Parts: sequence; structure tokens; C-alpha cells
Amino acid sequence: MTVAETVERYAPPARLSAEANLGADAYGRAEADRLGFWAEQAGRLHWDEPFGDVLDWSEAPFARWFVGGKLNAAYNCVDRHVEAGDGDRVALRFVGEPGDERLITYRDLLDEVSRAANALEALGVGAGDPVAIYLPMIPEAVVALLACARIGAPHTVVFGGFSADALRSRIDDFGAKTVITADGGYRRGAPSALKPAVDEALKACPDVANVLVVRRTGQDVAWTEGRDVWWHDATAKASPEHRPQAFDSEHPLFVMYTSGTTGKPKGILHTTGGYLTQAAYTFWGVFDHKPDDVYWCTADVGWITGHSYVVYGPLAAGATQVIYEGTPDTPHRGRWWEIIERHKVTLFYTAPTAIRTCMKWGAEIPARFDLSSLRVLGTVGESINPEAYRWYRRTIGGDRTPVVDTWWQTETGGHMITPLPGVTAGKPGSAMAAVPGVRVEIVDDAGEPVAAGESGYLVLTEPWPAMARTIWGDPQRFIDTYWSRFEGRYFAGDGARRDEDGDIWLLGRVDDVMNVSGHRLSTTEIESALVSHPSVAEAAVVGASDETTGQAVVAYVILREGADASDEKALIEELRGHVAREIGPIAKPRRILLVPELPKTRSGKIMRRLLRDVAENREIGDATTLADASVMTLIRDGMTAATADD
Ligand code: PRX
Repeated sequence: MTVAETVERYAPPARLSAEANLGADAYGRAEADRLGFWAEQAGRLHWDEPFGDVLDWSEAPFARWFVGGKLNAAYNCVDRHVEAGDGDRVALRFVGEPGDERLITYRDLLDEVSRAANALEALGVGAGDPVAIYLPMIPEAVVALLACARIGAPHTVVFGGFSADALRSRIDDFGAKTVITADGGYRRGAPSALKPAVDEALKACPDVANVLVVRRTGQDVAWTEGRDVWWHDATAKASPEHRPQAFDSEHPLFVMYTSGTTGKPKGILHTTGGYLTQAAYTFWGVFDHKPDDVYWCTADVGWITGHSYVVYGPLAAGATQVIYEGTPDTPHRGRWWEIIERHKVTLFYTAPTAIRTCMKWGAEIPARFDLSSLRVLGTVGESINPEAYRWYRRTIGGDRTPVVDTWWQTETGGHMITPLPGVTAGKPGSAMAAVPGVRVEIVDDAGEPVAAGESGYLVLTEPWPAMARTIWGDPQRFIDTYWSRFEGRYFAGDGARRDEDGDIWLLGRVDDVMNVSGHRLSTTEIESALVSHPSVAEAAVVGASDETTGQAVVAYVILREGADASDEKALIEELRGHVAREIGPIAKPRRILLVPELPKTRSGKIMRRLLRDVAENREIGDATTLADASVMTLIRDGMTAATADD
């Protein structure tokens, strides 16, 4: 990475600075009275009953924020805007992939959320009953989340790209008895089915009593009488009036499953008051959201970004936003820019991998569109490399827009480290500074802060409102994973460095978690998927650097004795397909290498570092701790042969 001193800075535009929602003073105010600052942010919400203490940390690391306060998340995201006279304001500008559009005002949203809440209640779903959601990026996805929130039913959204098996394990772990899905969604110019995966998953989930099915594509679906109900039938029958009930600030809002260092995904629990406060505050401050802005975040609702910065943050702030169902290259590679031009998008939030893909397609594509409405650009998911940052700022932002590189995680719930668009003179590639109200440190192995210029582990030293409350059903794992490495501090799993100016640079994961296109994948989870194939004896997976996706999955596989490898190519394709079926297409290895052995230490631990060296065509690092040093030569020779075949 470039050293800080040689990196240019981009000062915020004068007008944006002068009118910024969040000014430089916020840092000092939050530093002087952190809890008071967060209490002030909680004031962005409507509380049916006021809270007492801002934070109860007496049972750390299990936090309680805004203690005793009561509120309804859906009321905060919808009703209160209508009550304030903004019912005619557009909440969602939906763009379907085939080109269909829907404008949904806050009044329309209130009607739809209320009907859906009534429909869920009519099916017997009530406060505390977990609901699983498996939907494409359509307005009903937003409505479904809010309807659950409205009745106090915690939701878990499973990304539509996950397989039936991944869906089953999440439904099972969450204990959901209700599933909301669709016949399918449009992707790359064609209907892509979702319902069959639900039908497949539910063969092993006998407790699921109801499946609500949104009709999006009109494709044929199998139907289980008594279990399956059309969304349009259930909501048409339901009343558009629904009285929201106030829930405790710590009432579970949702669980989001994310990959960890073991094969089993972790259910990250977020609760109501603290989560919504931080989502609303950071949306307002980090994107400098003003009432006439048109915001667009390209994340799917199946990820945490879709929760915090498509549903809860923007809607709590009463924003108008675009949601888009499809891919950036359907029907042409200028689709995103066309949408920005047409809907006069002012705030745009996407992932570095998407920016790099667009860079590859060429600057002449966005140049065909009028992007002058844009005033703030954001990124999330991985560090943005300086070249992509500059391209984004110049080609998309016309060299006028600040770029906010936001570091956060499923577990943090909301932005934690980011520039502020009206304050920070940003450096390409740096996430810069902790959000006012958040405290971070970079420490060495012993937990001592490192000097400027040195790299170390990123830790969060004080609790924050949107922090994960626990791992669903496994509080011990919550303690072990995040709170044990450094006493009393949250260990994020990322490496980081502060430069001489004190600005923060993220350096990627320090554990066995990969980041592919901004999505978190566990090496162990993919290894387990591979060894569940009858031909595989052992597997080791690494994330190798990739120009576009950040990292790419590379798998080394030892076949079982007697496995038929006469057609190596076909077998490799079969294994890639197997991983896609077990986890989902996003986890499909970019390459699979059949090897005779894996590099292991004498205690049997796979040395992934060496496999990464091979995958990235580097000189193999220190291999002295290997039980059998000749293994690397065998693997390297095999690799050369495989590359020559490609
Ligand atoms: O490694 C960091 C990386 O993504 C991880 C969190 O992944 P997930 O929980 O799936 O959430 C992604 C969306 C918030 C982090 O541990 N990451 C995320 N944003 C950045 C980042 N790394 C560097 N810079 C970022 N802006």
C-alpha cells in the first residue's frame, strides 16, 4: 500500500462542508460525552416510552442500550413520516430488471406493511416468532422485513443466491416456522427460480407451517396445500390498518447469518433501539442525507448492508431511494448509470469489486450518461484500492464528489470507520477515522497500541449501540470469537495500520475468512462442502488475490482412493457444482487443484499461507515447520500442469 505521505488528499467541496449534517465538532462532542452523544442520536427515533440509562454494560460483553425504552422499528421507518405530513414522499423507486418500475410513497408503504403485518398475524405469527425471508430484491422484500419488525417477529433474511441446503441450516438454527419467498426474480435477463430451493429445504424442516409466496415472475411453482399461501391473496384479504405495538429496546429485530472460521455460520443477533439509532444516525451523517436527496445502495437485502442501508437506516431517516432488482450488465453495461441519470440519484453506495468491474468495462460507458446529480459516493465490503477510488471519484463523481470508504461488519450493525463527506480530506484507500461516538485502537499481539506506521489488529474499545448482542443460541461462541482475544475489547478479525497523520488503513482479514466481492466466506465451510463429496478425501481452501473480486476461492483437493479421475476436467466441474449446491454459487471455487498431499505442520494444521503463495504464483515462503517438506514441490508441479491446461 502507498505510504501516507505520498498520497493525495481530496478536501470536501466548500458548499457540502458549510451545510454538512455532521460537522467536525461532532468528534469533540462525542469524545467529551460519548453516552450523551449516543442519547442525542437516539433522539432521531420516536420512543413510545423513554429510556433510562443509555447503556448497561454490567453483563459485558452482552450489552443493553437505551435501557427500558420502548419503540416500534416499523413505526419509525414508515408511520411517523406519514403522520408528519410526508405521506406523498416517494420511499421506493423500484426498478425491475426487465424495466418495470414502481413508485411507492410512504403512504403506500404504510398500507403494504400494515396489510402484511395483519396477514402474518392471521397465520398465527406473533412477537418473538422467528421468520425466514428468501426473496429477490423487490419492494416486497422491504415490506416483509418491516412487517416482521412491526409485529415483533425477528427475521432472518437468507440471500437468494444461497442454496437449499444453506437455507435449511439457517431455518433450522433460527427456529423459523414461517418462510416468506417468491416464485423467482429476474436475473441476467431471465426468471430465476427461488421457490424450488424452499421446497427442497423444507423437506428437512417439518416445523415450518407457513410459506408466503410473492408472485414476481409468474413461473410455475410446486404447491403444498395447507402450507403455501400467495402473498397477494393474504395481503389483499388483510386490513390496511394495523396498530404497531411498542417493543423493548432490546427486543430481537433480526438475525443475520455470517461466515466464521468454522464450518457453521454464526447467527448475529441485532436488537431494536440501539441498532436503529446507529443505522439512522450513520445514514444521515455519513451520506449527509438531506430530504430532497435520492439515494441508491446496490446491496441486496440478503446482506447486512441491505438491512442497515437499504431498509432500516434510510427509511428511519425518511429517505427516497432507488432499489434495483438485477445485475449491472443487464441488458447492457451502462444499466447502473442509466438508472442514476433517470432517477437523478444524488447519493450512491456500492462495493469496490463492482467499481473495478466497471473500470474494466471502460470509462466510455458511464461517460454516455448524465451523472451530474451525484454528490456523495460510498463504498463498503473491502478496502478500496487507490486506483479504483480515483476512477470512482473522477469517472462517476466528475471529480467533485467525496468518496466515503465505510468500514464495518455484520457484527457492528452500522458504520464504524469512515470519512465524513463534509469534514474529511479523504485519502484514496483509507477509511480514515472512527465515526463520532465509536472508539477504535490498533494493537499488537500483546494488546498494546502500535506506533504510527506499524500494522496490528483492529479492536473496538467501547461498546456501540448497533453492536451484535450475541450469537443466536450460542452465547459462549460470542464471547470466544470476539471478546477473548483481547480482554474487554472487541476483536474485529481485521488487520489495520494508522499512518503518521493518525488515519486508518484496513489491511484485510487476519483469520481464515475470505472476502470475495465484498462477501464473507469461510475457508472451513467450503472445505466441509468439498469433503462431503464422495470423491474427496481432504480439502484445503485459500483466498488468493484477485484483481476484480478482491479474493478468489482456490481449493486444493485430495481424492479418495478409487475415485474416478479419468476425466479430470469433468470431475473438477462436478466439484465446483457440488459447492454451489451445498452453499451457493458465490462460494464456487474459481479453481480446484487435485493434489497428492497438503502441506501440514507436525501437529496436522494445514499451512494455508503456503497454499496462498502457490495460488498467487509467489515464491513459497518459510516451509521449515512442514512435516514433509517435499509436499510443496509436488503441489507446485501439479499447479504448473494445471495452469498449462487452462
Ligand atoms: O474484512 C472487513 C471487510 O468485510 C468484513 C465484514 O464483512 P461482512 O460482515 O460481510 O460485512 C460487509 C459489509 C459491512 C470486515 O471484517 N470490510 C468491510 N468493509 C470494509 C472492509 N474492509 C476494508 N474496508 C472496508 N471499507
